[in-house]
This record gives sequence, C-alpha cells and structure tokens, in this order.
Amino acid sequence: MAMSDNNYTVLISSRQSEMLDHLTGLLAEEMSHLHLQKRCVNNGHIDPLHDLPAMPDLLILHLSERWEGELQELAHHSSSERPPTLVIGDTQNPEVMRLAMKAGARDFLTEPVDQQELIAMLQQLEAEKYQSELTEQGNLTAVINAKGGSGASMLACNLAHLMQVESKQKVILMDLDMQFGSLAQYLDLKPENGVSDALKVVDELDNTALAAYIVRHKSGLQVLGATTDSIRLPNQTPEQQINQLLDLLLTHCNQLVVDLPRMIDRTALAVLKHASKVIVVVQQDFINIKDATHMLHLLRTELGIANENILVVVNRFNKNSEITLADIKESLKPHKLASIPNDYRHVLDSLNKGEPLLTVARRSSICQALNQLQDYLVNDEPEAPKGLINNLFSRLTGG
Ligand SMILES: Nc1ncnc2c1ncn2[C@@H]1O[C@H](COP(=O)(O)OP(=O)(O)O)[C@@H](O)[C@H]1O
Ligand SMILES: [Mg+2]
Repeated sequence: MAMSDNNYTVLISSRQSEMLDHLTGLLAEEMSHLHLQKRCVNNGHIDPLHDLPAMPDLLILHLSERWEGELQELAHHSSSERPPTLVIGDTQNPEVMRLAMKAGARDFLTEPVDQQELIAMLQQLEAEKYQSELTEQGNLTAVINAKGGSGASMLACNLAHLMQVESKQKVILMDLDMQFGSLAQYLDLKPENGVSDALKVVDELDNTALAAYIVRHKSGLQVLGATTDSIRLPNQTPEQQINQLLDLLLTHCNQLVVDLPRMIDRTALAVLKHASKVIVVVQQDFINIKDATHMLHLLRTELGIANENILVVVNRFNKNSEITLADIKESLKPHKLASIPNDYRHVLDSLNKGEPLLTVARRSSICQALNQLQDYLVNDEPEAPKGLINNLFSRLTGG
C-alpha cells in the first residue's frame, strides 16, 4: 500500500463485469482521485483477496449467489490482513448480514446501488484512513557519529533496511548529512529531489507532493536523500521548516531513521528533539572516545535527552583492541551499549554493489549484529520524548 501519496485504492470485486463497470462509473464520476481496481471473479478462486500483489485501502465486495463462500473466504483473513470492506448484497437476509459482520464488513448497500449513499460511505472510510494515519505517529531514530567516518551512515542505512525487510516496518530513511550525503550510494539510488528541496516547499507539501521527494528502494524502503546540487549551509534551515517536514514524514511511516551530520546545527537539534532513540556511533580509539564524551555531555545536559533514549554503538568492534568495551562503558556510562563487528570485506562489497548488507551477506556476523539492534529499536518501549531545548542554539552561539 502506497503511503507516500494519497491514492486511496479501492478494489471492486464482483462476478459480473457489468456491475464492475457500473460501480466504477458511479465512483469515477464523483471521486476522480480514487485509484480504482476491478476484479472480476469468475471461476476458480472465490476469495476476493486471493493473490493480490498489494492490499487495497478498501474492498467493495459485490456478493453473488455464492455469497456464503465469498464471505467465509474473507473471514479467513485475519482482521489485520484484510482491508475495510463495503458489502453490496441482500441486506434483508439476516444470514448474509451475520456473515458479512463476521468478515469485518464496515458498511452495507443493497442493489440498485444509490450513488450518493455510496459516495458518502467512501468519503467517510477514506477520511478514517487519514485520521488513523495521523494519530499513529512513527518512531524516530537519529544516528550521529562522535567523529567523522565512525560508520553513522553505514548504520543508518542498514538499520533502516533491516527494519523494513526483517521487521516489516514502514520505514523512511532521511539523509541530513547534506554536504556528504552517502545513503544514496549505499543503496544505489539517485534522488533528483532531496531534503533541501523538500524544505523549500514544506508549506505546500502534502501526502501527494511528498512522493516527489522520496525514492523507493526495491525493498520498499523509502529514502529522502540529500542532493548535492542544492547545498544549503548548515544553519540555513529554520527550525520551523524542519519540524514541519518531520511531522509530515512521521505520519507517513512507523520508523523514521535519520542520518545526522556530526555538526549539531539547528536542523540536527530539531531532529534530536523529535527522536525516540539517539544512536551515538563510536570506534575504539582515544580520540573517538574523547569526542563521544563531549557529544554525550551535550546530548544529556545541554539538550536534556534522557539517558534511556541514548544508545552508544561501538562500530568496527575488535575484541583485541587496546580499548575494551568495559573501558567504553566506564567512560561513557551509556544506558545501552551495543557493538557491531569490523567487517571490511562485506562492507566494501555492499558499497561496491550498492546493495545493503542483508542482500550481500545475510549470514555474516555484522548483519546479525545489525539485525539485533534494529529489533531492539523497533520493539523497545519508547520513553516519552523529553528534553525540550530552550533556545539552546542561541545560547551556544551567544546570539
Ligand atoms: N563495521 C564496519 N566494518 C568495516 N567497514 C566499515 C564498518 N562501518 C563503516 N565502515 C566503513 O567506514 C567508512 C565510513 O563509514 P560511514 O558510514 O560513511 O561513516 P560516517 O557516516 O560516520 O562518516 C566507510 O567507508 C564504510 O564503508
Ligand atoms: Mg555519514
């Protein structure tokens, strides 16, 4: 189901092709934005949802003389698997009504179908879809490195991909590392419009318009990339705009993963405020740990982000390194510490092929470690977003 556009998809299923044409005509006349699909069920499968490539937002099921089987088949799908259904049939027959309710029917119509009644029902059901999308805001994971080259982009990209594929989440990956955007390379995508373009028109952005700024990876992962031809200077993005963009994105996915630049500018601040989890990526060397100490101090004290929401990830972990995990724990005192092994060969292979690690090295230990991490991010109960930032930026810059 597409969520980056507001093409409300309606599947109309009937055994009579004339009925399909009739209903399509009634709808197209009044609601031209609908994406209508017709399915003429003749012989063979009686299940209106059999073998669909993607679930529609709404099913209009015109019952035939085989209504019993049709409704039973529909009832076999669990309620989370089947779309809301509008049933057209003999509403005078209590058995039809009983079975239809069991199959999760939301509304009923009798023949001949009254156009105004049909339209009213559709408008109602369509509005409900957007209502529920608006109330279910997604989860934001921000990935930031303590020092350039620690692996923040590698992590952001692979975590987002694994959330999408392994945890079946609706994920948007957003590249805010505008000047060095690299997510597109990790996934072999070439976005024509990116974050900075979307920010320019954020006032006019809605579900439909947003689609023009998002590229879809073949895994289903949606990417809002950084384009290099319209570089903005870090502080050029007013917080208001980025907040608006984040709110919009968060109603369109259940996981938003943001690859942040190392520099904490206004944009990064806005993202960190929205984040349910902040991942600080470090490597095992002294400078990294020193920079990470500084970064964590900033996050905890200056930005007021709860320690439970901060994760330290030791990337390119090597158990023989001079600096051990215990040392890192000791000096950074993270609420949660995870490690991702060093795997030069597979990471390079992934970059060269423009394919995520799951695709090039599913069984590798790096992929398994990343998978555990994404599982934690998806399933851990998020803390209430805390830490409103009181004009931190003006204090930092003395402005
Ligand atoms: N676990 C790892 N094993 C091997 N190489 C890695 C690993 N993580 C990152 N790299 C490599 O390190 C380099 C920097 O990674 P990148 O994700 O761009 O860092 P950052 O975004 O923090 O600057 C890249 O060339 C990447 O392929
Ligand atoms: Mg990066």
